[in-house]
Amino acid sequence: MIIAIDGPSGAGKSTLGKMLAKKLDLLYLDTGAMYRAVGLAVINAGAELENETEVGKIASQASIELIGEPDALFVKLNGEDVSQKIRTNEIGQAASIVSTISEVRKILVEKQRILGNLSKKGAILDGRDIGTVVFPKADVKFFLTAKPEARARRRFEEDSEKGRAVSYETTFEEIRKRDERDVSREDSPLHIAEDAIVIDTSELDLGEVFEKMMSAVAKFEREKTSAGFR
Ligand code: DC
Repeated sequence: MIIAIDGPSGAGKSTLGKMLAKKLDLLYLDTGAMYRAVGLAVINAGAELENETEVGKIASQASIELIGEPDALFVKLNGEDVSQKIRTNEIGQAASIVSTISEVRKILVEKQRILGNLSKKGAILDGRDIGTVVFPKADVKFFLTAKPEARARRRFEEDSEKGRAVSYETTFEEIRKRDERDVSREDSPLHIAEDAIVIDTSELDLGEVFEKMMSAVAKFEREKTSAGFR
């Protein structure tokens, strides 16, 4: 089974993706972490984030690994554990910039398809183009969204808890900039797949969103079973 979770940043995709993966015993793939790793690789190399040729070359040569369980995921870039380093706002913006480059998307989408198909039981992938491009035939597609203020508030609280001191205003501005770039890029912009289940998480708590997602998965499994008996 392949479950796609798409949506803008701060809508709760990764938290819910991990919860679902644990409950359903599926592989969890954070595809944003891959774009973040490329962003970091470009900064490490001292290259320009907008330089398509250089960035494409760096992405094709980088070794990016996602290892571990949903609760303890490690991201390795060329053998180095960069799990913490990639979580800054700076790297988030860098990821958003390099993700507009088609060569980067081609390389990462291919990796994501291979990884997603590796697990026999299936996988949950979270990102921006999972249900539209990476796995257009995913069994269940979710599009999680929330008002920008709610997403900025959550991101700000998360950053504060982790000791990453930024102001709410800065976080809001970062989210706004990233949204704008992610929806307006030419290659695979963020949009809702026709058959996606849209959940606005602005007024819902985590448990409520989780229940909605679990019932959608249960419905899919019931329908699959009854189709098998026909
Ligand atoms: O989900 P995230 O915040 O870690 O993603 C960082 C950036 O990577 C995001 O702003 C856009 C890009 N991205 C993408 O273009 N496609 C994906 N499937 C995942 C992330």
